[in-house]
Amino acid sequence: MTRLRLGVNIDHVATVRNARGGATPDPVRAAKMAEIAGADGITAHLREDRRHITDGDIDGLMENLSLPLNFEMAATAEMQAIALRHRPHAVCIVPEKREERTTEGGLEVAREENSLAGFIAPLRDAGCRVSIFIAADQRQIEAAHRIGAPVIELHTGAYCDAHAEGRFDVRDAELAKLQDMAAFAEDLGLEVHAGHGLTYDCVKPIAAIPQLVELNIGHFLVGEAIFSGLDSAIRRMRGLMDEARQEASGQGVA
Ligand code: PXP
Repeated sequence: MTRLRLGVNIDHVATVRNARGGATPDPVRAAKMAEIAGADGITAHLREDRRHITDGDIDGLMENLSLPLNFEMAATAEMQAIALRHRPHAVCIVPEKREERTTEGGLEVAREENSLAGFIAPLRDAGCRVSIFIAADQRQIEAAHRIGAPVIELHTGAYCDAHAEGRFDVRDAELAKLQDMAAFAEDLGLEVHAGHGLTYDCVKPIAAIPQLVELNIGHFLVGEAIFSGLDSAIRRMRGLMDEARQEASGQGVA
C-alpha cells in the first residue's frame, strides 16, 4: 500500500490570530513547522468572508512555503481569479455558506455539472490539480469524473461525528460507504483524498482505506497543539496514519 500523504489545514491558526486582530499566531510559521513535523502539504481555505485565512496569508504561503499548497475555495469568480493569479499546486473546490460554522457537506456536483466543468477548466489549464470535495455518494463521484476533475476529496464529517457521539452503527455504515466509494472512484481513475473532523480516535479506519492517497486534517491538530505543541500533534497523527496503513497491509507494527 502506498504511503498516505498528510495535508495539514492551518485555517484555525488564523482563527486564533484573528480573535485579537494582530499578527500572531502566524499561519505561515505553523505551515513551516508542519513541514518539519512530517506534513506532505498545507491546506488553507480562503473563505468569502475571510473569517480565518486572509489574502495576505495566501501571499505569505505562496512566497515562503516549500510544501505544495492545497488552496480550498468556493466556486466563485473572485476565488477563481485569486487561484489563477497564484497557481497553487492544488485547488480544492468546496461548497460554502456564510451562515455555516464549517464546510458542512460536500459539493452538489451532479446538479451543477455544466457550470462546474467550465469553472475548473481554466484552473486545470493553469496547471493546478483540481479536487472536488464531495460526499461519499456514487452520483456525485460520477459527476466529478464527468466534469474532468482528476481528484476528489471525500467528506468524512458524518463518520467522525457519529464516532464522537457514540452512534457506532451509524459510524460503521458511514465507514462502509467511504470504503466502497473510495474503491468506486479509484476504478473510475480518480485520485481519492479524504478529510473533515478527523481526530486521533477516528483516523485509523480511514487511513486504512487502501485507495486513499491523502488526508487533510486541521481543526483537531490546531486544538491539540494547545496541549502538546503543533509539532508533536502532527507527528502523532502521522504515526497513527502510518500504523493503520501497516496494519491494513498485514505487516503489523514493529
Ligand atoms: N478537507 C476539506 C475540504 C475541508 O473543507 C476541511 C475543513 O476546512 C478539512 C479537510 C479539514 O477538516 P478539519 O479542520 O475538521 O480537520
